[in-house]
Amino acid sequence: MLATLVAVLLITILGYIINSVSKPRKFPPGPNWYPFVGSSAIAQKVTLQHGSQWKGFAHLAKEYSTQVLGLKLGSELVVVVFGEKNLRKVFTEKEYEGRPDSFFIRQRCLGKRLGITFVDGPLWKEHRQFTVKNLKNVGFGKTAMEKEIQAELGYILEHIDKNKTKTINPKVILAASVLNILWKFTAGERIKEDRLQYVIDLFSKRSKAFSIAGGWLNQWPWIRFIFPNLSGYTLIKNLNQQISDIIEETVTKHKDRVVPGSDFIYSFLDEINDSNGSFHEEQLKAICLDILIAGAQTTSNVLEFAILSLIRNKDIQEKVYNEVHTIIGDDTPCWNDTNRLLYTVAFLFEVQRFYTIVPLAGPRRVLEETTIEDYVIPKNTTVLLSIGDVHFSPDLWDEPNKFKPERFLDSSGKLVNTEHFYGFGLGRRRCPGDSLAKSFIFIVLVGIVQKYKIECENGVLPAEEPIIGLISGARPFTAEFIPRF
Ligand code: HEM
Repeated sequence: MLATLVAVLLITILGYIINSVSKPRKFPPGPNWYPFVGSSAIAQKVTLQHGSQWKGFAHLAKEYSTQVLGLKLGSELVVVVFGEKNLRKVFTEKEYEGRPDSFFIRQRCLGKRLGITFVDGPLWKEHRQFTVKNLKNVGFGKTAMEKEIQAELGYILEHIDKNKTKTINPKVILAASVLNILWKFTAGERIKEDRLQYVIDLFSKRSKAFSIAGGWLNQWPWIRFIFPNLSGYTLIKNLNQQISDIIEETVTKHKDRVVPGSDFIYSFLDEINDSNGSFHEEQLKAICLDILIAGAQTTSNVLEFAILSLIRNKDIQEKVYNEVHTIIGDDTPCWNDTNRLLYTVAFLFEVQRFYTIVPLAGPRRVLEETTIEDYVIPKNTTVLLSIGDVHFSPDLWDEPNKFKPERFLDSSGKLVNTEHFYGFGLGRRRCPGDSLAKSFIFIVLVGIVQKYKIECENGVLPAEEPIIGLISGARPFTAEFIPRF
């Protein structure tokens, strides 16, 4: 009897092992799979060797001479797509519109499968539409938004003016400013000065905690029971709780009707009262978090990279300044100026190509078995899109490793090549915050360049190489802002 049990057990284990290392039919090429870990060890090794998952996976794709890389991370099938054609296919075809569901991903939405960014199906469709429509209703993407951004520019210039004898870390002012704009449309008010730094630190700690915990906790969530602190789980749980408390406090103020005016939270609370079960307070909190997480660091990081690029390339800074000075003079910049300040627009495209903020977009979940090139991608496979690779492809860009705003202009000074820029994604899951991000980046950059010459501290240029986690960020640097007049 015992012998039979042992035999059955051994056969089951053997069956599991054989199954876990066998690749599905026509699965894309990639490293071998090992029991329990799949190809995690090699994925982690190349990530460390090349400084980021994006570069590590690009290295593996080259090694296997493929534009569609097949991996297994823990028990999760993962496919990484490279090349413009494949990228467009995944961005735009319905089969790829899902989002994976895992313990780790749920931690990114306060522990539940809620919000917009990490849900799919009818919940995603209904709430994405509702959010985009109601943010618009409270002024997002319209003149009201431009006015708010111009007001933020005023605060930024005031801050620089007050500190003009000292060097300034641009991150400090830019992060606060973007957070304030997002909060204004979501919750109807700016974040109070004494609270602001606390909130910024919270989000920054949270994003670091996720980058560090990503490998382990993502693939083996059960390790939180054995190593709750070492795995990063306790820290993530505490930070989530603190962020949830802040949002809850704001929602309560809205329920008590003490916040003046209209905003997204009021629209959502009204909908809770007269609609179906998917509108509830937990979902409201998750959407607020999605907006802050997806919008704040991404937008301020682009501006930081723009300032860094102006410092590193003095000739480009002078060209941007001369264009701004000649065409708009002292006028407050507005979005319409993008039609006239074409060199500046090309410069900002180049910043976002050269420092691709989301180099590995997604994750997407395949909703039905599908094919890409000649490979079969099984249902529920996670797909990542290498935007960074397309932004550095020598087939699309001349000298891709050089910083050259001119690549976005033709000989008559008109914008070109923008169709190869994928910084905000494409298709139905395209970034819904692009209008805010683009206006903010343009208006604030032009407003600063108009008034100040930006230089590095003590002649030491800030490092060009970014830090690449889930998103790319500049290595910390300080700058001198010297008044132009
Ligand atoms: C420069 C700044 C930004 C960059 C580079 C950026 C980039 C992206 C990209 C590439 C995606 C698509 C991901 C995919 O296809 O799977 C995305 C989605 C998203 N972005 Fe942005 N984003 C920025 C700013 C913002 C802002 C300001 C908001 C605030 C409203 C925002 C909210 C979102 C949300 C909610 C999603 C998820 C959409 C969905 O899954 O349907 N983003 N973003």
